[in-house]
Amino acid sequence: MMLIANEQNIAQAAGKINEGGIVAFPTETVYGLGADAFNERSVARVFNAKKRPFFDPLIVHISALNMMERLVDFSRLSLESKKKLDVLTKELMPGPLTLILPKKPTVPDITSGGLDTVAVRFPCHDVALKLIDTAGCPIAAPSANPFGLLSPTTARHVQAGLGDSVDMILDGGPCRIGIESTVLDICGGKAAVLRQGGTEQDAIEALIGKCCATPHDPKITSPGCLKSHYAPKSKLILYAHEDFLNIPLKDDASYLFFDKASMEKWEKRQETNKKNYSCSVLSLQSNKIEANTIEAASNLFQTLHIIDAEKPSCIYAQAAPHLGLGPAINDRLQRASVSANL
Ligand code: TXA
Ligand code: MG
Repeated sequence: MMLIANEQNIAQAAGKINEGGIVAFPTETVYGLGADAFNERSVARVFNAKKRPFFDPLIVHISALNMMERLVDFSRLSLESKKKLDVLTKELMPGPLTLILPKKPTVPDITSGGLDTVAVRFPCHDVALKLIDTAGCPIAAPSANPFGLLSPTTARHVQAGLGDSVDMILDGGPCRIGIESTVLDICGGKAAVLRQGGTEQDAIEALIGKCCATPHDPKITSPGCLKSHYAPKSKLILYAHEDFLNIPLKDDASYLFFDKASMEKWEKRQETNKKNYSCSVLSLQSNKIEANTIEAASNLFQTLHIIDAEKPSCIYAQAAPHLGLGPAINDRLQRASVSANL
């Protein structure tokens, strides 16, 4: 059931969450599939609907900073980590940032994938906040797509991917950012970026100093550990940003360029009348590359959904430049390029 996210329907959705239901809802990054984080049965339904392996923990969403108290055991944080938490919550939340923190024993194992930490996110989206607030409980929500496939940035994507296995889909329009939140582990000595995402690593490092890419706990499984993820059904081959002129011309292939200028240069190079291929671009602007990465991120999954529906023989993709959200875009393209069967 797909419903416009107005006040009445949000209240109905919150009621479903309270009754143990699972509801898809918009956030500023991608759509999430939500359940009461403290209700093991509902959380299990989320895993089941997504066909997600139980070892992969969920992000718990809050609508106010004081809601963290229900989830986080602050006494297990070092003074250093507490300082990081303070500045990050003050400067970057609500927003596309997920923090890994020591969990309270009351957070069910199924929610945290059996880890003694919990992922907490304060989304910057009116519908998400209203839903959590009305339900009155933190909402555990992974992205609302079948496990390993493309993330949904519209309610229609959710409908197409998960259909009737969810109790309700709240349609709040397309997601503004379009790629998932950055996942940051601040439990250990040095903060670790477990997943690149909507908050740039530079912005985080400007506040808390250099971060590394390895979690403090080797048991931790993040999408960063899975080689194949965010994958379209068609095979995808990724080319370095500067290498796009070498992308071959192939029958029935689909081409995904970072920007219009690259596409035009590539098309000019092809001395052929072949017309049976299709091209898309992620960023239509022609200057300000850093700003373009924001536009490109917001179009990434939406464009891949469209390309994939055309069932091309292959998708050739040009990587984003290493600026702004470029690394987060390339992380997804890299994982999309690895076949799940490998
Ligand atoms: O933007 C987002 O983060 C979206 C929206 C819906 O909020 N959610 C999302 O959830 O992308 P999901 O489940 O697709 O990705 C969350 C990732 C998981 O793959 C998981 O491995 C990692 O966060 N994660 C969750 N809890 C963790 C923990 N305790 N330690 C390390 N990684 C964790
Ligand atoms: Mg996901």
